[in-house]
Amino acid sequence: MTIKTVSTTPYDDQKMGTAGLRKKSKVVMQENYVENFVQSIFNVIGDAKGKVYVLGGDGRFYNDIAIQKIIKIAAANGVSKLIIGRNGYVSTPAASHIILMNKLDGGFVLSASHNPGGINGDFGIKYANQSGGQAPSQISDKIYQESKNIREYKIYESEDIDLSELGTQKLGDMTIEVIDPVKDYAAMMEQIFDFNALRQLFAKGFRMKFDAMNAVTGPYAVKIFEEMLGAEKGSVINAKPLPDFGGLHPDPNLVYAKELINIMNGKDAPDFGAANDGDGDRNMILGQNFFVSPSDSLAIITDNYALIPAYKDGIFGVARSAATSTAVCRVGAARNLPCYEVPTGWKYFVNLMDSKRITFCGEESFGTGSSHIREKDGIWAVLFWLSIIAATGKSVAEITKAHWQKYGRTYYIRNDYEGVPTEVADKLMADLEAKLPTLKGKSFGAYTVSEAAPFIYNDPVDGSSTKNGLIIKFANDSRIIYRLSGTGSSGATIRVYNEQYKKDDLTGDSAEVLKPLAALAAEIAEITLRTGKTKADVTT
Ligand code: G1P
Ligand code: ZN
Repeated sequence: MTIKTVSTTPYDDQKMGTAGLRKKSKVVMQENYVENFVQSIFNVIGDAKGKVYVLGGDGRFYNDIAIQKIIKIAAANGVSKLIIGRNGYVSTPAASHIILMNKLDGGFVLSASHNPGGINGDFGIKYANQSGGQAPSQISDKIYQESKNIREYKIYESEDIDLSELGTQKLGDMTIEVIDPVKDYAAMMEQIFDFNALRQLFAKGFRMKFDAMNAVTGPYAVKIFEEMLGAEKGSVINAKPLPDFGGLHPDPNLVYAKELINIMNGKDAPDFGAANDGDGDRNMILGQNFFVSPSDSLAIITDNYALIPAYKDGIFGVARSAATSTAVCRVGAARNLPCYEVPTGWKYFVNLMDSKRITFCGEESFGTGSSHIREKDGIWAVLFWLSIIAATGKSVAEITKAHWQKYGRTYYIRNDYEGVPTEVADKLMADLEAKLPTLKGKSFGAYTVSEAAPFIYNDPVDGSSTKNGLIIKFANDSRIIYRLSGTGSSGATIRVYNEQYKKDDLTGDSAEVLKPLAALAAEIAEITLRTGKTKADVTT
């Protein structure tokens, strides 16, 4: 066995987006594509001697191959140790926990999150640093620059490593420890929540369905909900991780989690429903015939922090991405908690958590979490909701409606226009940005523009400044936000976020209530004229 130096040609597209490098599987399968990217990371890290990383993924197509490449490149670059989930599985939240618990130098999670998998689907690599969160832009930009100039990489020449058995093995000087990816994560959840109270809930006959969408959370959910908490067997559906997710699009929302929606809206629906995405950081919460918008979920979780053992003595503050509804900030204001507004992407919460400015945070895109780790956490959110139910004895719908009674309701929908040519999308955004100053004070029917500007975030910790999206605010407590997706693998997706706050009038249908605002949003940005689309491809 030897270390080989291989000469290579750089790719020019290895730029990380909202959450790591995300590409079509076939792009990642090109010669030396993974090798170039991973070597670029090690080049930016510098001396890897003594460093320890976690490695794993959501089990999607090409995970097994990419993992072997990363193991061999890590060994050749002098990494001391890799901690790898058995069979190469680790969820994004569990990886973050492993980094923090063991004080590791970072990790690699192989996932394209909620995007479909398979040879015609997507693949991705997320790189985390010692914070337990994804590397900040200052670092990912350096990696991108490096990847455009890379000329060679180092790789250990050896047989593939067997990852099916727990235990320790060596590759040259590097130690490889294969661990049970579920065990420590489950133990952490047991420390945060009152598992006895949850066991009692299930013992009384409470029924739930959790849809793991044939992705990585299956083993986590079976262990925690069925084995530890006593939910009836079969409560977790689509529990076995499959390379192509069984053809599912593992995005837990009303469009893609159809099987679960049908169960929850059907006869004899269980009391509670939830789903997670491919790598286990997103969640959707459902009651019988009832959907909790992620922005509301964050607000409700925040309002109920004192019910959970780990937070009962108080929380520091809360944060949401700018595109997430303002609901959580109303709870913050009422409870004297600071409420931060950051760009889209979990990495922007990390500094706020590290500096103890916030404890909870979330995004409208089905992401909720707390400072127990530095990623959003799907199962954590589900356990939080179950805990609220156990403590209050109320249903999901009752909890949510009571919240609206108390704080008013923030109606919210997001319209996505997908597959737009990049030039068209870029021009639309640039022209819209140029037009913003002329909109102020203008009235469109009931909507009078009070503010119109790009969203600019100045990080209070590291002083960096990020521009992300365009916001138009109206005098009647409504907002429109436009931004381009940073997680797509081809073309552009224009996201248009619509929100309207109502103190009364709490029982409307979101799509109905927001119809005029959504139409106005499309009109202001000239969406139909420029994209030819008369309606959004996906509405969530
Ligand atoms: C999307 C979501 C964003 C989330 C990210 C990773 O990014 O909108 O909130 O953090 O996926 O899960 P986008 O495609 O909008 O850049
Ligand atoms: Zn994800």
